[in-house]
Amino acid sequence: MSIDTTQANHEDGRFANHEELWLFGYGSLIYKAGFDYIRRAPATIHGWQRRFWQGSHDHRGTPDAPGRVATLVERPGAACVGMAYRITPAVFDHLDHREKNGYLRFATPMHFADGHVEEGLVYIATSDNAAWLGDASVNAIAKQIQRSCGPSGPNRDYVLDLAEALRALNADDSHVYAIARRLQALIDTE
Ligand code: BEZ
Repeated sequence: MSIDTTQANHEDGRFANHEELWLFGYGSLIYKAGFDYIRRAPATIHGWQRRFWQGSHDHRGTPDAPGRVATLVERPGAACVGMAYRITPAVFDHLDHREKNGYLRFATPMHFADGHVEEGLVYIATSDNAAWLGDASVNAIAKQIQRSCGPSGPNRDYVLDLAEALRALNADDSHVYAIARRLQALIDTE
């Protein structure tokens, strides 16, 4: 199941006339950009929490056996630590195609460690997209991730690499850490 969001994102004119802008990464973008950027820095956005609630039929799973990847869900008072990239708008052509399976661009303020705040864009898959999987128990999510694999590699690598990158940023993220712990326990008994 997929919904191609490329066109909707392409028609989004926000920041189109900017020579440079900020993009917030909260999933694999934290540890692997895959595009050229001007600079990057850890940042936090408020009111959003990271959840492995988005199905991946094209990267970490297949249409018949989707994996689970991160999206952001709104929660007042929550904070999500990630990596902000200073990019040119051309990078969006690449990302719009790469993240076409349900992710739309949202504008959000990004808070940097030195206290300054910049407006930028973030890709978010919301519950109304066709690839949405939603909540499940930690065990069920970890088991689905354990067995899933797609063109971008094993789903387990995505989750374990993300957990490691978040630990390196001293990020507080009980959802990611709980699933990574359960996943590692499942892998240890294979
Ligand atoms: C990320 O890794 O932060 C990400 C990038 C594009 C879409 C969804 C997540």
